[in-house]
Amino acid sequence: MVNKKVKCPKCQHIIEIQGNPGEKITIVCPKCSTKGVYIFPKKDTARDLKEEISGNIAIQVRSLSKTYNSVKAAQEVSFNVKKGEIFGFLGPNGAGKTTTIKMILGLTHPTAGEVYINGRRMHSDNVEVKKEIGYLPERISFYLNLTPVQTLNFFCELKEVNKSVVPEILKELGLQDVANRKVGTFSKGMIQLLGFAQAMIGSPSIYVLDEPSSGLDPRWMKVIRDKIRYLNEKGATVMFSSHILSEVQALCDRVCIINKGLLVAEDTIENLNKKLNIKPKLIIKIKEKEKISSKDIEDIEGVYEVQIKDEEIIVACDGKKKLQIIEDIKKIGIDIKDFQTIEPSIEDVFVKLLEGKNECQKGHGNCKKRVHGQCKK
Ligand SMILES: Nc1ncnc2c1ncn2[C@@H]1O[C@H](COP(=O)(O)OP(=O)(O)OP(=O)(O)O)[C@@H](O)[C@H]1O
Ligand SMILES: [Mg+2]
Repeated sequence: MVNKKVKCPKCQHIIEIQGNPGEKITIVCPKCSTKGVYIFPKKDTARDLKEEISGNIAIQVRSLSKTYNSVKAAQEVSFNVKKGEIFGFLGPNGAGKTTTIKMILGLTHPTAGEVYINGRRMHSDNVEVKKEIGYLPERISFYLNLTPVQTLNFFCELKEVNKSVVPEILKELGLQDVANRKVGTFSKGMIQLLGFAQAMIGSPSIYVLDEPSSGLDPRWMKVIRDKIRYLNEKGATVMFSSHILSEVQALCDRVCIINKGLLVAEDTIENLNKKLNIKPKLIIKIKEKEKISSKDIEDIEGVYEVQIKDEEIIVACDGKKKLQIIEDIKKIGIDIKDFQTIEPSIEDVFVKLLEGKNECQKGHGNCKKRVHGQCKK
């Protein structure tokens, strides 16, 4: 129900009316008895949407779809990236990550759907909105015969930013010692750092990084991870895509998982574990396998699943009952050499989500309408 104040066209008396969007009502002015008709405006989706975008959302993706000929690269993808968070955009090869990212950046025109950046609609020609984002493309390449200084100066010109920022950015990324070396001599990791440097020009409040660690060795992956944290600690929102699950788990506040163009989940890793009922595991090292009956362990309160291997027992259990379970296992006469706990990982989440790929997001088995909001059950 909408409240509205209207003015009588004859006596200018203010009349308060109530109605629903699209409803037509007859009004009689209580002062001069003039009759009139008022139609409440239908819902203005674009305006409502803007109102809905609260101040704490940096990137709002609304029902984005992209079809290339017959390939549905993204299908009604919707998610929010909150201001100040590190948001992981996870999916296997060909899932639609780059396509979605390019639509967020206004580089690819969506078949349907909208993107809002800090509450403002992104269009391919909306330069002001684009300035709010620093983008590291999936396969960045630079002119090999230029130095980092020359490269960044060039990007400053493109972005209309004063070149005086270049030395500081190079220092922040630890590239000051190679500032005048030709980019052609750089390793892949150094190229990625230069990619970060070009994204930082203009001090954007949001960074969108497409597979920033792809193809790097563990040492360089750590360097990149540290830089992502650094940008975030300086106050920026960071969204990055990856198919490296451990990378996402190490960095992200929340994740969104995409597969075959469809959003499979958006949540914290902890909540996803809870929703999918993924349990922590106790890995218990034992001396003798022979004497052990899995039934005895399964009967212990809080134990969900038991696997007995050569010198260890793996117990999926209730996270709150781990210590009690260890005590109870000792009580049934099992000699424990050592034990460790493995908390659920994003790998577990990913496998479970893709296993249940015919289930809609409301948990209805074999529902084909997996896209959020489409399931009518
Ligand atoms: N320009 C294009 N023309 C036709 N098909 C395309 C185009 N770009 C992407 N696709 C297709 O859309 C699907 C999603 O591709 P996309 O590059 O978005 O996936 P991705 O998740 O980024 O994969 P990767 O992890 O390998 O980078 C794929 O099937 C891909 O072949
Ligand atoms: Mg990609």
